[in-house]
Amino acid sequence: MANVTFSSPRLKKDVTVYAVAGDTKTLLSVAKANSIPLNHECENGECGSCQVQVSVLSGKRPIGVAMTEKEKTVLRLAGKITAQQILDAETSDLPPPWRLACQMVVRDEDILVKF
Ligand code: FES
Repeated sequence: MANVTFSSPRLKKDVTVYAVAGDTKTLLSVAKANSIPLNHECENGECGSCQVQVSVLSGKRPIGVAMTEKEKTVLRLAGKITAQQILDAETSDLPPPWRLACQMVVRDEDILVKF
């Protein structure tokens, strides 16, 4: 189980939901299942409308990050992450500060999602 906390000016207050880790649910599908008003259009890692800021809360070493090629490309072109941050994610398990909610798979760690 992972706690996923959503924080946004679009919410009256922060909302924490429980996500079952390991069932390959994307962050966007967790948001939709809990009526969190996260922007999204293509749901396929192409439009960039679902960009979110993600930080790990559990205080543990972050779990290895797997980003799709589409996600890397969209976030780089949007200026949200650098080539170095992609490299750090791939080689040192350092999570990048921005993700695409439709591409990010929720893992067994508590995270804060800002949008
Ligand atoms: S909804 Fe289009 S990139 Fe995620």
